[in-house]
Amino acid sequence: MAFFPDRSSTSWPRIERAGKFCVNVLASPQQNLCRRFSAKVGDKFAGLEYRLSNNGSPVLDDIVAWIDCALDVVHEAGDHFIVLGRVIELDIARADQAPLRVMPVDVRPIPRIRRRGRCSPTLSHRAN
Ligand SMILES: Cc1cc2nc3c(=O)[nH]c(=O)nc-3n(C[C@H](O)[C@H](O)[C@H](O)COP(=O)(O)O)c2cc1C
Repeated sequence: MAFFPDRSSTSWPRIERAGKFCVNVLASPQQNLCRRFSAKVGDKFAGLEYRLSNNGSPVLDDIVAWIDCALDVVHEAGDHFIVLGRVIELDIARADQAPLRVMPVDVRPIPRIRRRGRCSPTLSHRAN
């Protein structure tokens, strides 16, 4: 499993210290949980019902599925990190529920690429 924490993430240092994480696939009625975990608040688990996986990571109640991971590789990537987790255990918890999806709020076409094999000066400057 891969995820890409921003350097300003308040959750990433905690995950890094723990050396493990569990991906919780939220169910479509759990939009409130999605909002809670996407906010920069102190204890995101306060008052929530959850259990600990065999590896000691939180598994929330009523989620569709969970994927328990151990931190494997961390790459620096500009203002983000690329984090790879090794999957230890996973399961479907609520097959009767549809997973919650986050839809982009805005989509724009990518400008047509007119040449092959060349970068514009701006792009090659950025790459350096
Ligand atoms: C479209 C979109 C993309 C996002 N991409 C990232 C991302 O790549 N990495 C990240 O750490 N946060 C990303 N966020 C912000 C997280 O959803 C979340 O708000 C933030 O990580 C929560 O704070 P915390 O990391 O301090 O717990 C994104 C938010 C939106 C709306």
